Amino acid sequence: MSKIRIGLIGLGFMGSTHFRIHQENPDAQIVALADVDEAKRRGDVSSVVGNIGSADNSELLDLTGVKVYDSGFDLIKDPDVDMVDICTPTEFHADLVEAALAAGKHVFSEKPLCRTMEECFRLEKAVKAAKQFVNFGLCVRAWPEYDYFYREYLKGSYGKIISATFRRLSPSVAGQHWEDWFMDGKRSGGALLDMHTHDTDFIVHLLGRPDAVTSVGRTVVSRNNGIDHVITFYHYENGPLVEAEGCWGAPNTTPFEMTFQIICEKATIRLMAEGFKVYWNDGRIDTPAVESTTGWHVELKYFVDCIKNNIVPDRYQTIDSIADTFKVTEAEQRSVVEGKRIEVKY
Ligand SMILES: NC(=O)c1ccc[n+]([C@@H]2O[C@H](COP(=O)([O-])OP(=O)(O)OC[C@H]3O[C@@H](n4cnc5c(N)ncnc54)[C@H](O)[C@@H]3O)[C@@H](O)[C@H]2O)c1
Repeated sequence: MSKIRIGLIGLGFMGSTHFRIHQENPDAQIVALADVDEAKRRGDVSSVVGNIGSADNSELLDLTGVKVYDSGFDLIKDPDVDMVDICTPTEFHADLVEAALAAGKHVFSEKPLCRTMEECFRLEKAVKAAKQFVNFGLCVRAWPEYDYFYREYLKGSYGKIISATFRRLSPSVAGQHWEDWFMDGKRSGGALLDMHTHDTDFIVHLLGRPDAVTSVGRTVVSRNNGIDHVITFYHYENGPLVEAEGCWGAPNTTPFEMTFQIICEKATIRLMAEGFKVYWNDGRIDTPAVESTTGWHVELKYFVDCIKNNIVPDRYQTIDSIADTFKVTEAEQRSVVEGKRIEVKY
């Protein structure tokens, strides 16, 4: 198969990030773009801001040879598109994924999976029934330091996990995005669903679904009860002590932080201010060599490679584990609201 022809829906922070990643990939070609915003349809991303990376958004993106649509549903019908890449706000993910699958396209959709439990059930069914490939952008599974730890842990290098702590602290994104949708809890699900979901997802990827969660949270800056700051304890009966914290309540001048400390039987592994380190119990300290890239680059290149080589993608995500993450996040939301431990059901 020659280049994979991609139709990109949504050209905000993630859409412009995906655009540039696909542009660098010799096996990918962006052939179509859809956005509801006229400026984005001209390649003008000067209004785009994000929490990681420092892309120069002052120049127009080069849309030569790219068909431009104002509706993602029209792009999905384009016979020249092999793969649909969905980077819209979360509330549109489920309908667009379903429509793209119904049109016979391979689908990569940004995280979170969707906005509601009803949509989660619909997507589980649609993805399982589909013959095409589907992946979701839970990129921390592919982020080099996290993936390195995951692989070494599975090999048994560190022994069992005793305790694990994860943090994801973002500057405020208030007033910076399309229709300020992140700050509307109804649309984004707050920091709990939108951002903290990355750590919940890595925990599910590493240890499977917890039996229950206990979460506390606060609404500080969001409308419609979005949880801007959450701290969750993940209950694994007779298993490790696991907790994660996510927050986007600080002023937008604060730095972004994604960190972890995992204490295992033989070593403690940290991604912290000192960098990525393994502190062995015998006193040795290693600095593992990991590729200097992002999980976004790794997961997108992997997905395009899978389509090109007709290999079912299974390295980072399956719909069962992604849906599990959504169900755990839903339990965390309930735990905050109800003020008690919530069993993870479904
Ligand atoms: N994987 C990650 O690390 C990561 C990071 C940030 C955001 N995200 C996710 O990516 C998605 C997009 O977030 P963002 O930060 O790029 O948002 P954004 O507001 O910067 O961009 C959204 C873009 O979608 C367009 N849009 C809105 N509704 C549309 C529709 N119905 N059809 C077509 N275009 C539409 C907007 O005009 C805008 O250009 C969200 O689901 C978010 O949770 C993932």
